[in-house]
This record gives sequence, C-alpha cells and structure tokens, in this order.
Amino acid sequence: MTAAAPEYNGRLMSPHTLVDRSKLAELTTGELERFAAGHRGSRKLFESSRESLLGGVPMSWMAKWAGGHPIFFESARGARLTDVDGNEYVDLCLGDTGAMAGHGPPATAQAVQRRFEAGATTMLPSEDAPAVGRQLAGRFGLPLWQLTVSATDANRFAIRMARQVTGRPRILVFSYCYHGTVDESFITLGEDGPRSRAGNVGPPVDPTETTRVVEFNDPDALEQALREGDVACVLAEPAMTNIGIVPPEPGFHDEMRRLTRETGTVLIIDETHTLSCGPGGYTAAHGLEPDMLTVGKAIGGGVPSGAFGLSAELAERVGSNFDADYTDTGGVGGTLAGNALTAAAIRATLEQVLTADAFAQMIGLADRFTQGVRAALDSDDVPWHVVQLGARAEYAFSPEVPRNGGEAARSGDPELEGYLHLYALNRGVLITPFHNMALMCPDTTGADVDRHSEVFASAVGELF
Ligand SMILES: Cc1ncc(COP(=O)(O)O)c(C=O)c1O
Repeated sequence: MTAAAPEYNGRLMSPHTLVDRSKLAELTTGELERFAAGHRGSRKLFESSRESLLGGVPMSWMAKWAGGHPIFFESARGARLTDVDGNEYVDLCLGDTGAMAGHGPPATAQAVQRRFEAGATTMLPSEDAPAVGRQLAGRFGLPLWQLTVSATDANRFAIRMARQVTGRPRILVFSYCYHGTVDESFITLGEDGPRSRAGNVGPPVDPTETTRVVEFNDPDALEQALREGDVACVLAEPAMTNIGIVPPEPGFHDEMRRLTRETGTVLIIDETHTLSCGPGGYTAAHGLEPDMLTVGKAIGGGVPSGAFGLSAELAERVGSNFDADYTDTGGVGGTLAGNALTAAAIRATLEQVLTADAFAQMIGLADRFTQGVRAALDSDDVPWHVVQLGARAEYAFSPEVPRNGGEAARSGDPELEGYLHLYALNRGVLITPFHNMALMCPDTTGADVDRHSEVFASAVGELF
C-alpha cells in the first residue's frame, strides 16, 4: 500500500490499491517474460520501426502498451484481432472506441470501397452528406451539422464558433477531462489552483490564460466561474470517461444547463466516448439539451471522422456574423474534412451497424462484463469498483465511484494497471491501455466477455 500519493505521468498513485508492491513487481516480471516469449515477431518489427519512426510507432501514444512495446497486428475483424506472431485476441480495446462498430464492419467496408472507387475527395458534397446530417440530427436532436476529420477537430471548431458568437475569450472544462489534442483543455485543478496539465507538450499559450477549470459535479464552483462573464463555452463529456468513468450526480446536468443559459454560455457536449450509451449517446438517453454537440471516432466505422451539431438558435447567431470567414481561411475547416469518403463511412456505419438493436445487445454484454468483474472482486474481497456506461465498462482501484476527475486521478495506479493489462494480453484479451476501459461492439459475444471475466479473476486471485 502506498502511503502518500506521488504523481506519475500526470496521474496520482493510489493510496487505495492495497497491493503488496513486491508481489506485484514479481508477478509483472513473470508476465513480461511471457510477453517476450510470445511476441518475438512484434519485438523485431518494433526494433526495425525505431530506425524510421519516432519511438518506433506511427503515433507516439501507440507506445503506451504494457510489455515495453506494442504488438503489431496482422488483421482485425469484428471483435477479434490477430498479431504477427499468430496470437489471437478478444479485442475489448476496439481502437480506444474508434472501432466500437467492430473491425471492418461489412456494410461500412462496402460503402467505403464503392465511394473510394468513385471519388473520395473532391471539394464537393455527395448525396451521402445530407443523409449523414439527417442521421445525426435524428439521433442527437440538434438540427444542423458539419463533418470533420476527427473529434479533436470537431471540438476545436465548436470552441471557435462559441468564441465568435459570444465574443468571450475563455472556455471552461472539468479537471482531468480529455477532449483530444485541444490546446485549451490541458488544464487541471491542483491544490493551489488551476495549472497546465503535467506533461503538456509545448502549449502555445499557458492554458490558465485561456481556460477556467473546475471539478466535475461541483455546481457551486461552476456557477462562480461562469459568473465572471468571460467564458464562451463549457466543453464537457456528459460523464467523464478519460480518467476512468466519473458519472454525473443527479441534478448536475440540470444545473449546468441552467447556469450556462443564465450566463449566456454555450454548452458543448462531447459524445465521442459516451456514444456508448445508445444510438444518440448520453444526450438522447438522458434528454440533455446542448447548444452544440461533438462526436467522432466510432461514427466512421474506422475511417477518420468527426462531426459537430448546432442548435437552430446558435446556427442563426453564427450565420449573422459576416466578419467570420467560414468558407476560406477563417480557422474552421480542413481540406479532407467532410469529404465523400468520410460521409459514406459515417452513413453506412450509422444506418446499418451502430443501430438501436446493436446497442441493446452491446449494452447487455457490458452488463455481463460488469457482473463478471464484480464477482471476481467480491470473491477476493478486493475494494475496487466497476462502473458501466452503456456498452462501456471500467474497473478502478478505489472502493467508491469517484465524484470528479481529481478524485479519480488519485486512485490511479499505473504499475497495477500494467500488470492487469499484460496479464490479460498474455491470455488473449486486449483492454485499452489508457486506464481500464473495455468496450463492446456488435460482434462481441458472451463467450468473449466470459473470457475476460475468467482472466481478470485469475489475475486478481494471483495478486491477493
Ligand atoms: C471525449 C473525447 N473527445 C474527443 C477525443 C478526441 O478524439 P480524436 O483523438 O479521435 O480526435 C477523445 C479521444 O480520446 C475523447 O475521449
């Protein structure tokens, strides 16, 4: 058990984990040896990649996997993935939500192939685009949409529009949020106030100048920050998902909506991960009424995609500002944003893959996952919790579900996470290397979930 709460990679080590650290180290060594023996092909590819790729990976966060290097995959289909050493995995990571529709869903694959052969990117809309707009409007309740290359872009553009219509300089986020690589959002609330998040790489401007930050589920702090009158928008996930899962407390969303309306602040809800709650994400499932909504990752079935929606009232305000350049170099756009390939991929994925029936099945499997983890924890009297958000579930190392990002960060334990992730990987189950997130896709089966439950119970059993 750790006495204090030292910081590691921007996260605080848990005082709650109650783990014998020498036993953990010994077990981890065993798992590392097993990993090395079973992943020689991946190791070789990683070594050669280092000659031409910074850190041996095409994007730096892919180095995050426990084991010292990522596995290199050969193929992925549905909820299964095979690596270059011939190991097969149940994939509960699903590209950190990018593959929540499953790997290579046939409807998306066919639409993308057809579209690619008939022109992928032309600076012109195709007939898929309005169909996508209708899908998004029907699901999330906002009438007007734009398509982007990623959720990060959707957030950046939504923030720009909010600043433009309000004429205010700052944004507000919740401590330990993640909304993609959005400069203003890398801020946390320390004991001595707001500070740039640990590890923030070359911030263009200190985020304490651009951003107000408060803890999630703290309406009083939110009110105080919004009453300053300089906040253009609140950017929030409806439940936090990037520091473990932090659900909103009853009434918090009502308060946030009331306060943003009273202070003329644009409310942007980011559904990129919480889309797991159903076809219209948390927003539709809980009747939220945001001014703008951003989403990305899964909606394109694996093709880079994002989108943001606006209320009719906000769209009118955006359109009535003739100084803002939305058609050329005004700072909202991207050459490949909203191209025909993206539109075809989103249309097929939403119309045919991430359907209401698929969500019902995925959510049932996440129930089963949650029960499996809970049973393992109960059987060894382990004081951790597991929390579910539709088709997503996550365990974490504190007895209670955290109330906010700060609390969640304090219960993080990277060493313990590394052991549990590697133990599962070595036995054919992938979960997201960022905290302990597992996600179901339309192809996930009960047997896949039970395999995780079995492996998790045995990993925990060896530790306690
Ligand atoms: C809630 C949320 N919003 C936005 C993003 C950014 O997505 P992308 O990296 O695909 O742009 C993420 C990424 O993890 C996210 O979790």
